[in-house]
Amino acid sequence: MRIAIVGPGALGCLFATLLFPKKQSAEDSLWLLDHNQERANLLTMQGIIYETDKGQERYPISVSSDLQAVGPMDMVLFCVKSQNLDTCLHSCLPLLSPQSLLVFLQNGIGHLDIQERLNLPTAPAFASSSEGATLLAPGHVLHAGRGKTFLGFLKDPTELHQQQLRELARILQDAGLDVALSQDIRTQLWAKLFINAGINPLTALYNCTNGQLLTSCAARSRLKKIVHETETVARACGIAISVDPLQAALAVCKSTARNISSMLQDRRHQRLTEIDAINGAIVREGKRLGIPTPFNEEVVQQIKKMEEKYDQDPTRTEAI
Ligand code: PAF
Repeated sequence: MRIAIVGPGALGCLFATLLFPKKQSAEDSLWLLDHNQERANLLTMQGIIYETDKGQERYPISVSSDLQAVGPMDMVLFCVKSQNLDTCLHSCLPLLSPQSLLVFLQNGIGHLDIQERLNLPTAPAFASSSEGATLLAPGHVLHAGRGKTFLGFLKDPTELHQQQLRELARILQDAGLDVALSQDIRTQLWAKLFINAGINPLTALYNCTNGQLLTSCAARSRLKKIVHETETVARACGIAISVDPLQAALAVCKSTARNISSMLQDRRHQRLTEIDAINGAIVREGKRLGIPTPFNEEVVQQIKKMEEKYDQDPTRTEAI
């Protein structure tokens, strides 16, 4: 199996290090792809470091930015931010053949129309993962919290792609991850969306850990309103809700109390956030269905304002 992982972020490095030891034959190959050539060279030289509370391991994974040289893959896992996906897919054309299985691992729901939007010839797979991975330095991932990963298709896949996705699930399970194939991946992606919609923008705005959202009355009250509003939109979209979204979001604040959310990490590194794919997508769905979403709209506006001010005052914080 020839597998490429696009994007050396926390999730990309995590999956690369978990898949690497499973290479079995000469035909098997694993690539980690990075658009930044300098960083790709550095990561190839240093290896990718996988760290847990038990220690560190370093894997000699090939990292490249030369996609022509890498050539067509059986499976391509896209681990880039939602807002970079379209550009990334265009530059990844040398990796793709009609047989290639494409797997998308973005947060939010902004990428779910990717097949129609980019005219992909076959149904891609989507993943929703709650693995707790943090990038400590380029190519150095900390696997701090165990989560669950769901994999599935939104549209009918080919027999080959179904088989490849089963194979991917099996390899990841062998590597110790809790992975399940889902017949309803949309519901799994929305279940994660409730959590990200509540936690990510507020931690970024208040510049606080996930746990601190529980101890601030203002933050906790806004989180409740955002999640309730998102639940109303989800129900109108026909999403099956089996676990109370608010309780789920509050439980994640508690279980990941010391985490710096991905959106706060973006803010601290002055990177554009995934706000459009998370709260922005809820606002768009609300508009389509005639459901008001003032609390999601408010955080979208505030995060965009924050992004505009990046160069002016990176340490500016709303009091919690
Ligand atoms: O995006 C994140 O940071 C994570 O999905 C979560 C669950 C909010 C924990 O920090």
